[in-house]
Amino acid sequence: MARVGLLTGGGDCPGLNAVIRAVVRRALADPGHSVVGFRYGWAGVLEDEALELTLESTAGILPRGGTILGTSRTNPFADGRDGLAQIRRTLETRGIDALIPIGGEDTLGAALRLHRAGIPIVGVPKTIDNDLGGTDVTFGFQTAVQIVTDAIDRLHTTAESHNRVIVVEVMGRHAGWIATHAGMAGGADAILVPERPFDIEQVCAHLRRRHERGRSFSIVVVAEGATAQSGTLQTRSDSATDAFGHSRLGGIAAMLEREIEARTGYETRETVLGHVQRGGTPVAFDRVLATRFGVAAMEAVAAGHFGVMVALRGTHIVEVDLEESLREPKLLDPALYETAELFFG
Ligand code: F6P
Repeated sequence: MARVGLLTGGGDCPGLNAVIRAVVRRALADPGHSVVGFRYGWAGVLEDEALELTLESTAGILPRGGTILGTSRTNPFADGRDGLAQIRRTLETRGIDALIPIGGEDTLGAALRLHRAGIPIVGVPKTIDNDLGGTDVTFGFQTAVQIVTDAIDRLHTTAESHNRVIVVEVMGRHAGWIATHAGMAGGADAILVPERPFDIEQVCAHLRRRHERGRSFSIVVVAEGATAQSGTLQTRSDSATDAFGHSRLGGIAAMLEREIEARTGYETRETVLGHVQRGGTPVAFDRVLATRFGVAAMEAVAAGHFGVMVALRGTHIVEVDLEESLREPKLLDPALYETAELFFG
C-alpha cells in the first residue's frame, strides 16, 4: 500500500501525460494505492501545491501533449538553497511514501540528492533530446524526430524551387540525436552536431562541391548545441542561464546563414524549429514507451525498489541505478553519424 507523489520537471515533452495516466491506472488497479500530482515540478513539492490524481482526472489525457501537472525548471538546491527540509515537510503532511519524478538530467539530479537523503525515489527518464544515460531511448524523442522530418520534407521543396541553402536549427543541447535521426530521415546534405565541432570552411567546401555536381540547393541540419572548431568562428554568445546553470541556446542557424551566404555566394535562409518540436500529440511509439515507463515505475514503488530509474534496454523495460544513469549524458553513436554522412551531398 503506497501513497505516491508524481511530478513533471524541466522542459515539457510529448508523452508526459501518458506516463501520468499509466502510473495512476497501475496504482489504482491495486487496493490501497493512491497518487498525488505536484504542480510545476519541484516548485509544487516545495510549495505544497498538489492535486489528487484519479481515474477521472486522468481520463482522456493519453494523446495530449504537454503535462496536465505543469512543469518548471525550479531547482530545490539552487544558489545554495537546501530544499530538503521543505520537501520532507510536504511529503509528511501529505503522507507520501514515495516520489516518482519524471524528468531529465536536472529534475532527476535533484531527485538523486533527495534519494541520498533517504527519500524513496523512482525516476522516469524524459527528454526529447534523447541524451539521458541508462536508457536506450527516452519518450518524446520519436515525436520530435517526426516533426523535424516533416519540416525537412517541406523545406526541401522550397529550397529546390529557389536554389537556396536552408539551415534548419533543431534541439539538442549536448547531443545530436534529433539532428542525426531527422537529418537521415529527411535526406539532409549536412548535419552539424555538438559531438563534432565543425569547420565552417569545410562545410562550405562541401556545399560548393555539391553545387558543382549540379545540385542547386542544400539542406543543412544543425543542433542548437553545435559549435565551431576552436578559433574558427564565434558560435556561443553569453546568454541567460536557468536555475540549473544551463545557458539558453539558439542562434547557430542565424550565424550559419550569414557565414554560408558570405563564403559561398549561395542564397541562404535559416529555419529555427524551436518549441514546435516539443509541442502537440506524441507519436504512437512515445505513447507506448511512456505507458510502459509509468507502469514499471509504479511497480518499482510497490516492490520497494528505490534509487532506481526505469529504462528501455533493447525491447525490455528494466530498472537501472539512478546515480549511474546520471553520470554522463548519452552522446551520439559515432557509427550512426558515419552512416548519415554517407548520404551527405
Ligand atoms: O528539454 C531539453 C530542451 O528541449 C533542449 O534541447 C533545449 O535547449 C531546452 O530544452 C529549451 O528549454 P526551454 O524550454 O526552457 O527554452
